[in-house]
Amino acid sequence: MRAVVLVGGEGTRLRPLTETIPKPLIPLVDRPFLHHVLDHLARHGVHEVLLSSSYLESAFGAFLSDRRGDPAITWITEASPLGTGGAIANAAQHLEETFLVLNGDILTDLDLSGLVAQHRRNAAVATITLTPVADARPYGLVTVDEAGRVGEFREKPPEPVPGEINAGTYVLEPEAIRDVPSNRPVSIEREVFPSLISSGAPVFGVVSAAYWMDLGTPQKYLQATFDALEGRVGGLSYAAPHVDPTARVSVRAHLGRWVVVGPEARIGEGAVVEDSVILRGGQVGPEAKIRQSIVGPAASVGGGASLDGAILAEGAIVLAGVRSLGARVGAGQTLEA
Ligand code: GTP
Repeated sequence: MRAVVLVGGEGTRLRPLTETIPKPLIPLVDRPFLHHVLDHLARHGVHEVLLSSSYLESAFGAFLSDRRGDPAITWITEASPLGTGGAIANAAQHLEETFLVLNGDILTDLDLSGLVAQHRRNAAVATITLTPVADARPYGLVTVDEAGRVGEFREKPPEPVPGEINAGTYVLEPEAIRDVPSNRPVSIEREVFPSLISSGAPVFGVVSAAYWMDLGTPQKYLQATFDALEGRVGGLSYAAPHVDPTARVSVRAHLGRWVVVGPEARIGEGAVVEDSVILRGGQVGPEAKIRQSIVGPAASVGGGASLDGAILAEGAIVLAGVRSLGARVGAGQTLEA
């Protein structure tokens, strides 16, 4: 079985972190998120994955040369963003059989083998995994009939209603994307699926109770990290807090349970870090306080500073003593008092 993993989005909701790191390459606990996705695919017998991205394409080079083992990766050129449907169609020129598609920003322990088996039992052209959420506003709802056939894709509801949403994991037959135009970006959610459904093609939905979290926003990225630390995600097991062996944390610093300190990061004396991720080479000065924040690679927080809900991009600097709620500091930028 082969799979297409969608990794070419700009990740605007995770800016400024995604100014220099594509969303799928942001580490989740101990390694770039895409490793988790690929390992999950390998556990379900996927031996080849097709990837493409026109956004920060060169950043994927180092990842690809570090990656070992199953699945093998084929990189496909995507000269300009093709949208989710266009990127799948572009990759699927190389595919002649049933294949999986995964959004590259979703943490899930979904039973992919069971999903493919269900797709075959239904003789579907497309099978869409659905996941229940308490508030469907950011997503839009998908309805299925008693036989599991998808009835409609509804626009994002204005009220916070519970419901089943598109989980960004599909099984497709090559014919599902055969007619996708190649001269403009095409969305699979907004164009390809609705047009298949209205043409009467067998599009099925499978509701899954597996762990599911999209990492699209800072809050969700942090929540997925905390869930992984708590052992809520099948296949992942970590000590909490997670401190990389090459990090240096003062014995007089306090780390909460939901904290990741990445390789070569430094946490100074008297610093307090809670519910936060400090990425590779991030520095937290003495007596600084960090809550609900992401400190990007080689970013630094000066002594005595206090941050809540902050996102610091690669190499960002927060000067000593700064107090801030919800700061966004771009790559190499400085936040002053
Ligand atoms: P936002 O800008 O914050 O909405 O994030 P995003 O750009 O990742 O968009 P979204 O979350 O809707 O994308 C869903 C999945 O599709 C993600 O895994 C993206 O990486 C991927 N994706 C979105 N657009 C493209 C594209 O044009 N080409 C490719 N190859 N992948 C895409």
